[in-house]
Amino acid sequence: MKHARIIEGLTLAQKCSLLSGKDVWHTRALEGAGIPSVALSDGPSGLRKQAAAGDHLGLNESTKATCWPSASAVANSWDVCLAEKIGEALGREAQKQDVQILLGPGLNIKRSPLCGRNFEYFSEDPYLSGKLAAAYVRGIQRMGVSACPKHFAANSQETRRMTNDSVMDERTLREIYLTGFEIAVREGKPQSLMTAYNKLNGVYANENRHLLSDILRGEWGFEGMVVTDWGGCNDIAAGARAGSNLEMPGTGDDGPCELLRAVEEGRLDEGTLDKRLDELLDVILATSTAKTGGDINEDAHHALAREAAEQCLVLLKNEDDILPIQRNARVAVIGDFAAAPRYQGAGSSSVNATRVDVTPVLLPRYFPNAIGCAPGFRREDVPDEEMRTQACRLAEQADVVLMYLGLTEAFETEGLDRTHIRIPENQIRLLEAVSKVNSSVVVILSAGSVVEMPWLGNCKALVDAYLGGQAMAEAVLRVVSGQANPSGRLAETMPHSGSEAPCYRYYPGSRVSEYREGLYVGYRYYETVGIKPLFPFGFGLSYTSFEYRDVAASKSGVAFTLKNTGKRNGAEVAQVYVSLPGARVFRPALELKGFAKVLLKAGEEKRVEIPLDDKAFRYFNVKTNRWETEAGAYEIKVGASCEDIRLTATVVVAGTNAPNPYEDPLFEPWRTGDVSNVTSIAFETLLGRELPQPSSRDRLDMNDPLEDMASARNPVCRFVARMLLSMRKRSIATGKPDLNILFITSMPFRGLAKMMGGAITTRMAEDLLFIANGHWHRGLGRLIWHFFTKPRLEKMGGKTE
Ligand code: BGC
Repeated sequence: MKHARIIEGLTLAQKCSLLSGKDVWHTRALEGAGIPSVALSDGPSGLRKQAAAGDHLGLNESTKATCWPSASAVANSWDVCLAEKIGEALGREAQKQDVQILLGPGLNIKRSPLCGRNFEYFSEDPYLSGKLAAAYVRGIQRMGVSACPKHFAANSQETRRMTNDSVMDERTLREIYLTGFEIAVREGKPQSLMTAYNKLNGVYANENRHLLSDILRGEWGFEGMVVTDWGGCNDIAAGARAGSNLEMPGTGDDGPCELLRAVEEGRLDEGTLDKRLDELLDVILATSTAKTGGDINEDAHHALAREAAEQCLVLLKNEDDILPIQRNARVAVIGDFAAAPRYQGAGSSSVNATRVDVTPVLLPRYFPNAIGCAPGFRREDVPDEEMRTQACRLAEQADVVLMYLGLTEAFETEGLDRTHIRIPENQIRLLEAVSKVNSSVVVILSAGSVVEMPWLGNCKALVDAYLGGQAMAEAVLRVVSGQANPSGRLAETMPHSGSEAPCYRYYPGSRVSEYREGLYVGYRYYETVGIKPLFPFGFGLSYTSFEYRDVAASKSGVAFTLKNTGKRNGAEVAQVYVSLPGARVFRPALELKGFAKVLLKAGEEKRVEIPLDDKAFRYFNVKTNRWETEAGAYEIKVGASCEDIRLTATVVVAGTNAPNPYEDPLFEPWRTGDVSNVTSIAFETLLGRELPQPSSRDRLDMNDPLEDMASARNPVCRFVARMLLSMRKRSIATGKPDLNILFITSMPFRGLAKMMGGAITTRMAEDLLFIANGHWHRGLGRLIWHFFTKPRLEKMGGKTE
């Protein structure tokens, strides 16, 4: 142990107290023992430090900070250097504001386009996610602040997010849901990591020994500290046994006293407790003594935010080369998002931006003959004839119309999944009307994730700006005016509709989420079954063109010549996919294993070399329980998207001769990739065990969310649940869902003890559950008793500051 001297001098109660937070955002201190308190703060798209009242849902005001493009936008840049620069700036702002642990980046895999939190995650691909996450981590930690990648692992839905069980086979877990974290941990070396709310194969992520001990610490060599997601601790002693170090937010004396009891009762070995404390202290001591990152230059950070937004924009359509627009064109700007941009998502990642660029103010600088702006539609999805007519009148007089459309705030938020991927109907009607009076329409889309586009024929060009952060407006103008050449490429497949996704039938799960599609997430599915989505993974247009030639590949890398054959400087994202035709062990048709963003002047060419690492040929074998390689002639495909392969080279690789675990005919869906309707029997074969059966319980338990009180025995609880559910429905209908209501309804009974700073103890939460289960009098009696006999840490020698 590194800090044995400090730990030896502490009482058992003091040691226990340190593994649970002091409040919403701080760890506990024991100054006498040389242990300071450190601050943790969100988040991935900008610092969200709450100086006053703290909450974890982005409700109360935070101090000003630069709002960067959301992770889903940054991923479109495919630019590891950019991600590292953003990380560094995030770290600098955290340092300045005295935050030692920054809660991000978020790198969960976008299993379904319907996940409400996709805007906070990078990609559907683990390799791309992992590389970008590692870059953020390096950047953040260079400033002496600990990064904290999240949410580990298999956190793919918001529905019942605190209790849902992600059920999948080990190979899918390893190859799809863990590889990104593996890269982030091995290459980024984060000092902290946050566990997910959900269970994984029946065990809460925070108590999952397989995840935290075997894989994270054992295989990947993680030496830092693991923190729960906020309120995500189920059993603090089980967490400590499995490898988790810190419960957040603080639960008063409840968590520490439970740890103490666990040690006294022999459920937790004191040596393990010491080890967890040692790992935690290492991060606390390292980050609290780090030097400051110096002064923040707000202008420089804003300029970087603009550069970032520019790199993230994806040009999806450009008919008749309508873009870039001539400087002297009569440009009309239509759409509410122009004056009130939607540049970030809602929830714990929302940032109080230092400033926000808006299009109407910047427009004359780029288009001096611009003829004006009209909001065109109301944010809530209701028709407004007058606004539409006004917008059409303006459009009639323009050479080109810039239409700012997108998803409103209601569609993408933490705590809520989407039910479809359409943009509001009133915006589509407006686009139809405007395109009738002016055929030169350029749509600028603001959305943190994919949307359906049956309206694509009504515009000549489409710039998908995602949620581009505080400087997004100027980045858009630079791109449409040609001052910048778009170089973003989709980091996720744009399907025709939400129902096209392979997991559509299984998503979202209720108590259990069955990952029946297995490995076939995103392009891995579309490419294997031969379905053409609306826009493929890796796709994006440029104002110039690129030629690929002269490929040479070996097991350790691929080289080729890339030439900018157009008249403008521009950047290309060259992507390397690996495939094994005729593979014996089933696998997706192709998988991303390398990429490079290459900037080339007009006419310039470069020899590009992209390394292939240990992930290039491996697959996880569930029989040998380790990574194996199938022998064969692998195709190394170099392309401009997963569909647009320009060069192919073959590399013969020796295998490890592992047995094929998939001889049974029941594996047919995964052999063909046709996984959208997998039977329970076939899925059980893939899992190698029976599916968890929904128990016919007539009682609620500590892990049931409060919304389930709707079926409680106690009529008062039923009434309360109905009230909460109707409040939730109304709040969703308003278009700005109340995150508190979303959180409360999906919070399990145990959460009552985890989110109230110790006002309600675990025993008291159990009593409330007892009452909900119909035991009024006895439950109330116990509740009163447990209120007056709350365990007090101080009495047990555990006072901290
Ligand atoms: C989110 C985390 C976030 C935490 C603290 C939770 O609700 O899931 O991503 O870091 O709150 O705000």
